[in-house]
Amino acid sequence: MTHFSEAERPIGLQLFGSEPDLLAAAAQKAEGLGVDLIDLNLGCPAPRIVHSGEGGALLRQPEHCSKIFEAVVQAVACPVTIKLRLGWDEKQVNAGEIARRAEDAGIGAVTVHGRTVAQGFSGKADWGAIGRVKEAVRIPVFGNGDVTSAGDAAALLERCGCDGVMIGRAALGNPWIFRQIRSQLEGNKPEPPPSLQERLAVYRRHLELSISYRGEGGALREMRRQAARYLRGFPGAAGARNRIMGAGSAERLFKVIGELSNCDIIERGGE
Ligand SMILES: Cc1cc2nc3c(=O)[nH]c(=O)nc-3n(C[C@H](O)[C@H](O)[C@H](O)COP(=O)(O)O)c2cc1C
Repeated sequence: MTHFSEAERPIGLQLFGSEPDLLAAAAQKAEGLGVDLIDLNLGCPAPRIVHSGEGGALLRQPEHCSKIFEAVVQAVACPVTIKLRLGWDEKQVNAGEIARRAEDAGIGAVTVHGRTVAQGFSGKADWGAIGRVKEAVRIPVFGNGDVTSAGDAAALLERCGCDGVMIGRAALGNPWIFRQIRSQLEGNKPEPPPSLQERLAVYRRHLELSISYRGEGGALREMRRQAARYLRGFPGAAGARNRIMGAGSAERLFKVIGELSNCDIIERGGE
């Protein structure tokens, strides 16, 4: 998970843990790998992580958070950022306090996912609450949660006064979202969604890169999973996905992609 290519810079590497000394040592190791910034995870709701007192569980220990922030900031020369949720649950919403502690310890920026840990991925991200974290600190605040279009990104920026937006799930299978957002923020008229051919061309390139990185077996597993995401929203997507799932080798999968690109059953879908 620490592999990256120079083309991907700037690279942020996220750490999760709960022991200040261990996190500081891990941050030094990460810095030695040449990353540009270290991010600390204070939001993961996965039971395995939370039960170990890590990820989102840290929000219940604000003083301990300060110790972690101080230890990591002192250990490395590169910027350190944090990513957190609004709080442990709706009765313990304390992202503003944690963000202030982060700022006091020298943390460079904060990303806020507008849900509590207890919420998991249910309900809707509370953008108003992200705005209150923005008001609590002077360091940059990035808003996150439920941004699925250029319009959403513009609305979150305006509503929260945030310094940036972080996109998670909506970028899976749709790397065009960043281009669409930039275009809208620069005042251009909305970009049309990518055509099926464009999507398949990128899917094909993704497959080639995945093969060179993981080998054929790993790439097939990954790219079968990705198929549904790339094809989402197109009429006939289910049939196309089944054909991709049935491809038993990379050679066969390239052939299926070629056939789908020329196929008139799947036509350009609306998004
Ligand atoms: C499969 C999956 C894995 C995730 N892994 C991480 C992670 O390692 N670190 C992190 O800070 N957030 C992680 N997140 C949370 C996202 O960064 C983001 O906060 C969340 O999905 C809400 O944003 P979105 O609505 O744009 O997806 C993960 C989310 C998903 C769905």
